[in-house]
Amino acid sequence: MSVNKEIKRVTTHILQAMKGKGEKIAMLTAYDYSMAKIVDDAGVDVILVGDSASNVMAGHETTLPITLDQMIYHASSVVRAANRALVVVDLPFGSYQGNSKEALSSAIRIMKESGAHAVKLEGGIEIAESITRILTAGIPVMGHLGLTPQSIYKFGTYTVRAKQEAEAQKLREDAQKLQELGCFAVVLEKIPAALAQEVSQSLQIPTIGIGAGQHCDGQVLVIHDMLGINKGFRPRFLRQYATLYEVMNDAIQGYVGDVKAKAFPNEKEQY
Ligand code: KIV
Repeated sequence: MSVNKEIKRVTTHILQAMKGKGEKIAMLTAYDYSMAKIVDDAGVDVILVGDSASNVMAGHETTLPITLDQMIYHASSVVRAANRALVVVDLPFGSYQGNSKEALSSAIRIMKESGAHAVKLEGGIEIAESITRILTAGIPVMGHLGLTPQSIYKFGTYTVRAKQEAEAQKLREDAQKLQELGCFAVVLEKIPAALAQEVSQSLQIPTIGIGAGQHCDGQVLVIHDMLGINKGFRPRFLRQYATLYEVMNDAIQGYVGDVKAKAFPNEKEQY
């Protein structure tokens, strides 16, 4: 039984129907309560508690160091804020690659301890057994193909993936496999737009693109990137909707200046 009947939660079935109607899916990352509240109130359909938290929240160079406990902490903060959006949580590096039993227990911990609605895993055919086991427990799974940052040391760089035919063909097969297994959607990261279009048209389940062109069924961006909080990060695929680094820096400099000048607090700002 649902305790909040006023706001209709986005479900995996709704996302499927959106694809059917040609209605694009808007997904953004969030990692904390306050940001997730703004994202949810603004009408985002899916909030991804991405392991990009490792970069933007913790300052690591890659997504590899973040732990399952840390992902659960971020996810539970986001879940408390999200009334409408479907909340999807990344299984972090090392929490599912070992074997399918470990994958299932990691996914169960995320669902039980954070209250999230689905998990996301990076990879294709090679993690099929883990995906099946998680799905069998009734946990919705989002796939992730193309540039999969947890494999950065295998790739060597963050450049566009699947430009060569052999890798493109593997991606087509992986996408079909993810659908066949029962994933409800698949993220396509940094692949040629024409390939993303072909895959999106060939799948019944929605594709969510990041650096994968306009023909995906939805789009996802890292919130800190699209708000311009990460000052130096300007890849071609990123549209910056605000320049919050400057806005926040100006505000903080104003505060520092006022404190130093003994202009804050004034008489009205005290008891
Ligand atoms: O962790 C993340 O933010 C992601 C998106 C880039 C898709 O996986």
